[in-house]
Amino acid sequence: MKRRVLVTGGAGFIGSHVADAFLAAGWDVAIIDNLSRGRPKHVPRGADFRQLDAGAPEARELVARGRFDVIAHLAAQVVVPVSVADPLLDAEENLLALINLLEGARDGGVRRFVFSSSGGVIYGERPPPHVETAPKLPASQYGVSKLAGEYYVACYQRLYGIEAVCLRYSNVYGPRQDPHGEAGVVAIFGQRLRDGRPITIFGDGTQTRDYVYVADVARANVLAAGAVLPVADGSPDATAINIGTGLQTTVSALGERMMDVAGVRVAVEHEPPRKGELSANALVIAKAQVVLGWRPEVELPEGLHATYAWIAGEPA
Ligand SMILES: NC(=O)c1ccc[n+]([C@@H]2O[C@H](COP(=O)([O-])OP(=O)(O)OC[C@H]3O[C@@H](n4cnc5c(N)ncnc54)[C@H](O)[C@@H]3O)[C@@H](O)[C@H]2O)c1
Repeated sequence: MKRRVLVTGGAGFIGSHVADAFLAAGWDVAIIDNLSRGRPKHVPRGADFRQLDAGAPEARELVARGRFDVIAHLAAQVVVPVSVADPLLDAEENLLALINLLEGARDGGVRRFVFSSSGGVIYGERPPPHVETAPKLPASQYGVSKLAGEYYVACYQRLYGIEAVCLRYSNVYGPRQDPHGEAGVVAIFGQRLRDGRPITIFGDGTQTRDYVYVADVARANVLAAGAVLPVADGSPDATAINIGTGLQTTVSALGERMMDVAGVRVAVEHEPPRKGELSANALVIAKAQVVLGWRPEVELPEGLHATYAWIAGEPA
């Protein structure tokens, strides 16, 4: 019998690629998304889609009765400044909805819960690269809600035996990323370059990020759903696995590389650094290799080409 997965947020950027990857691996895929940011056109054919809020009683019911082997939970409020401006909304989306699904998973005897966490904001302003057990210093309310989410997922493992995997992504980029939000510098630069407009860098551009391609992140989700997990002590760090490349690229260098990829030169404008923005980030990914047999396969130039080709084909 086919294994069944529910992908929450599956009409969004990463979630739609995760759904693609599960379908390609032969899973039965159901998706819920409230379409607050997701797009119906990103929902893969072959997935059973319902427009539903992860915090709604119907979502809990679906998880409880859906006979899912795995929940891949990606639905979230993902914009850091929104979490700062409206922390209650952030907690509602990122914590209450998560607990709603975990309660459904408990009722439904779901075997495994794969939670999308963040490997940037939860480590905060400490010198990278970060290992999973590094001290946490969440840089924003979004970082706190992601870290607290990991504690909930780990708690449900301890109390009810729902196997927990918390994937801590670095900066994910690739096709279908929304350039209209505040995150996703590759998507934002790409759209500016396509339209021949200047790009804006906040700060001096020496801040670094660890850019990981979305298809690699999707593959990590499928591996996390099926891997034999080591016996965990039930702590959130034991359930956590960094997903990144370990490489740091400055935002200025990214802008240069993207101009090369797009084959255009535009002006680079600078604005003051944004509050809460990290000066550097990179993740140690040794654990992903050991536990999941995962390594990133798409290098930055190749990933940027694929991403820009997609942006160039989108309507302006
Ligand atoms: N993009 C990154 O670099 C990055 C880095 C670290 C972690 N993450 C995490 O990965 C996950 C996916 O992020 P993304 O970049 O694809 O963002 P996204 O906004 O494209 O996807 C989130 C999806 O969830 C949906 N959604 C939001 N709230 C919902 C709710 N209450 N009920 C149902 N659906 C809801 C949205 O409509 C959207 O389709 C999130 O959990 C995010 O925190 C992303």
